[in-house]
Amino acid sequence: MTKSLVRVAGLKKYYQMGGTVVRALDGIDLEIKPGTFTVVMGPSGSGKSTLLYLLGGLDRGTSGEIWVDGQSLNDMDENSLALFRRRSMGFVFQSFNLIPSMTALQNVAFPMQFAGVTSARREMQARNLLAQVGLEDRAEHRPTELSGGQQQRVAIARALVNDPDLILADEPTGNLDTASGAAIMQLLSDLHLAGKTVLVVSHDPRMTRFATDKIFLLDGRVVSEEEYQSASLGTMDL
Ligand SMILES: Nc1ncnc2c1ncn2[C@@H]1O[C@H](COP(=O)(O)OP(=O)(O)O)[C@@H](O)[C@H]1O
Ligand SMILES: [Mg+2]
Repeated sequence: MTKSLVRVAGLKKYYQMGGTVVRALDGIDLEIKPGTFTVVMGPSGSGKSTLLYLLGGLDRGTSGEIWVDGQSLNDMDENSLALFRRRSMGFVFQSFNLIPSMTALQNVAFPMQFAGVTSARREMQARNLLAQVGLEDRAEHRPTELSGGQQQRVAIARALVNDPDLILADEPTGNLDTASGAAIMQLLSDLHLAGKTVLVVSHDPRMTRFATDKIFLLDGRVVSEEEYQSASLGTMDL
């Protein structure tokens, strides 16, 4: 048995909203093996982003545990969590989250500042990463001078900066047209084939094309594919 890269047990995240409790995650158990490409499928509001944020240590659960590489995130204080996140995780978001005043190159080089890398080395490494995502000729462009698909490529290059074990992507194709979305999926798949562990959350069934593993979420719970499919059919009947 391969050791898990991520293990989640009994994970809950409840939000208090006025008088009611929103059960964003309602007892999640899952496991992600190294070298897999996992797609977490779920309709809007099923808890996908919440799960991704918790796995990435960007927020904490109400109860339950998460281990990444055998380390419990619960046991880490905010500083060690931040350090851990920087070293082991790369994040990709639906809205790209690039810094508008910076060029593509500067956006990619930026996170390396915190890793104590010299500026010449940062620039060289950022150029290599931009080349890896097919954007070597766009290094001096700012985000507004790039298409959505190109901006997402810059964001993926930035996510690779610290050579993370795990790439976490939240609806990475959600803001893209079909062709750019397909190219981003292909790029994530290439990273997977190059040895990265990739976890994508999405409500788009096309994302599962490259998946080695699929997880289905409904109302903050993991369900079987059958249950998931019959629930989506139910929604379509309405
Ligand atoms: N900060 C928050 N405060 C209150 N409720 C939240 C918060 N974040 C998410 N939720 C609720 O939790 C549920 C899951 O949200 P989310 O994880 O964003 O779902 P998804 O990404 O699948 O669309 C939703 O009902 C959402 O309204
Ligand atoms: Mg979401």
